[in-house]
Amino acid sequence: MALVNMRDMLQHAYQHGYAVGAFDLVSLEFLEGIMDAAERCHAPVILSLAESHFEYFDFELIMPAVEAAALRASVPVAIHLDHGESFESALRGIHLGCNGIMVDSSQHTLAENIHMTRAVVNMAHACGVPVEGELGYVPGVEGEDAERHPGEIAYTTVAEAHDYVTQTAVDFLAVSIGTVHGRMLGEPELDFERLQQINASLGIPLVIHGGTGLNDDQFRQLIASGVSKINYYTALADRAGIHIRDNASSHQQNGYTSLTKGVKAAISAEVERCIRLWGSADRAAALMTQCAPWSAVDHLIIYNVNNISEHEVDAIMAEGRRVLSSIPGVREVITGRAVKQDAKYRYTWLVRFCHPAVIDSYRDHPSHVAFADQYFRPVAGDRISIDYARVLHSTYI
Ligand code: 13P
Repeated sequence: MALVNMRDMLQHAYQHGYAVGAFDLVSLEFLEGIMDAAERCHAPVILSLAESHFEYFDFELIMPAVEAAALRASVPVAIHLDHGESFESALRGIHLGCNGIMVDSSQHTLAENIHMTRAVVNMAHACGVPVEGELGYVPGVEGEDAERHPGEIAYTTVAEAHDYVTQTAVDFLAVSIGTVHGRMLGEPELDFERLQQINASLGIPLVIHGGTGLNDDQFRQLIASGVSKINYYTALADRAGIHIRDNASSHQQNGYTSLTKGVKAAISAEVERCIRLWGSADRAAALMTQCAPWSAVDHLIIYNVNNISEHEVDAIMAEGRRVLSSIPGVREVITGRAVKQDAKYRYTWLVRFCHPAVIDSYRDHPSHVAFADQYFRPVAGDRISIDYARVLHSTYI
């Protein structure tokens, strides 16, 4: 199991002068291609899901595959919501398994950006999840031509970056120093001096969006100036597109699987090139020794009830599933009834938390307190309640 804490992952990259690739994925071909490259290179990697891409896949359906890929990997992996558009998006991302969140309020005024980002940081940190903020404006849309989304680059200033990070407590900052999302118009000119000043002022891992189109030397300079996470998508989509067009032109009658044959390998080759260029190859083993594993907690209650019918028990369970599953950091609420009538404890709640931090924030959350006081405690009889940390590899052998 190699799902790890993204804060630890990027701190390691920051301290050791390399950058972890955050590759946006839109299908299983992308997921498998990215993971194959990370495994080949023994590299940490970030699986990134951008809200602007949700029209191309069902976020809820793809997340179990993304999580399974991370859990079975031998290299350290984090799962990131890219360009989360709202507080609700961040909440949903954590609920579905993201362990890093980007909140993108960069199109708003500085005061609004700080206000919105702070709310997400408070919620996410109570779930143990680190947050990336963005200051300044990186125009364009991943995967599309820059001229279709011209926008003006708004450069991040050192003073604003300092205020923003102090007031929001974000863990990582995406900066605008000349990159754009998607295919560039001409050669990008990057303001390295500005980047170095921001880095000297903040001392936290910096993030570059719009990695496509930068040259090798630019990447090296970015990393030398504190960039520890590079977001990359359009070049992967373009590689896939070239491959599909080649497949289409080589045979007249091509079905889906013939058209997409080799796409995974094409994506993987480009990811591998990036990983090696950005210095994250062969970092997995050292990083693993300094990274907390990302381990879920199961909050288990077994209980009996006093003087209510089975029908009433079902109604309380339904209300609990509805209310408790919307508390930040709760992945799932499972309710159950003992198979045997004479079981010592007849009912169970199993509430799955994304991280141990949720034990406290869940207990004190107003929705939990209200549900427990109004519905559960008045009827609950004997009960046992225990929080179990997930054991995914043996610690005691
Ligand atoms: P590119 O698509 O330009 O590589 O940018 C990706 C990105 O910044 C995702 O957030």
